[in-house]
Amino acid sequence: MSTPLPIVRTTQALRQQIKAWRRDGDLIALVPTMGALHEGHLDLVRLALRQSKRVVVSIFVNPTQFAPTEDLSRYPRDEAGDAEKLARTGCSLIWAPTPDIMYPSGFATRIIPAGVADGLETDTRPQFFGGVATVCCKLFSQVTPDIAVFGEKDYQQLCVVQQMVRDLDLPLGIVAAPTTREADGLAMSSRNAYLSPDQRTAAPALFRIMTELASQLKAGGSIHDVTTAARQQLNAAGFAKIDYVEIRNAKTLAPPIAGTDVPLRLLVAAWLGTTRLIDNITL
Ligand code: PAF
Repeated sequence: MSTPLPIVRTTQALRQQIKAWRRDGDLIALVPTMGALHEGHLDLVRLALRQSKRVVVSIFVNPTQFAPTEDLSRYPRDEAGDAEKLARTGCSLIWAPTPDIMYPSGFATRIIPAGVADGLETDTRPQFFGGVATVCCKLFSQVTPDIAVFGEKDYQQLCVVQQMVRDLDLPLGIVAAPTTREADGLAMSSRNAYLSPDQRTAAPALFRIMTELASQLKAGGSIHDVTTAARQQLNAAGFAKIDYVEIRNAKTLAPPIAGTDVPLRLLVAAWLGTTRLIDNITL
């Protein structure tokens, strides 16, 4: 049995603990999450622990990043299970504010990211990155970490947070962690819990088709041809709706300019039934 972790719910108690760690000269890392933790989240915590003595994991299902039609009310929640898992990783504290602590009555300020936030996710989820950037900015000023760890699984989100930190001179480093995958290649995500057994069997096709696309591109295929083929293969594998299959400049997320040699990223969002899966790989 591991020792239960402190779960802190007020900014005052959080600040007191952070102050004590600072007095001891401890480096502090933050891993922001919405809970329903899986091995991918725990890998973020393990990475954070390699770089800092203290790791704060925030658990907050952030209402401002969900559209009214999205899954806020049914988003999986399991604070007791999360606390159990985190206690075993060596995490120091769980920061679990309630919505009225995060957004007290009268709250009226919002960060509006652009640049890397434009397109891709924003085409279908226009509210999403405003909500993410605003809550991350608040988490950074509540926890005042030296670093914050974000998974590459949400690659555009990672780019948005990096840009916000640069643009607003926020005093912390952003550390990117590689995507953790199931043995069959499916990227770990809390939303995988929504998949039916049949959909779960079909889901690894996403990563397989992405990897095939990468090989075809390397072998000289054109971006248009390889992405068109990938869309057809995704449809055939049961992904009835595809939001995007895009190859982008890995830094700016702009469409690549022919003839230039920049690192590229493949980003995909597609639906299995009512579950939207996103994934990305470097090319
Ligand atoms: O990736 C997530 O879980 C969320 O978008 C984040 C970064 C915790 C902000 O709510």
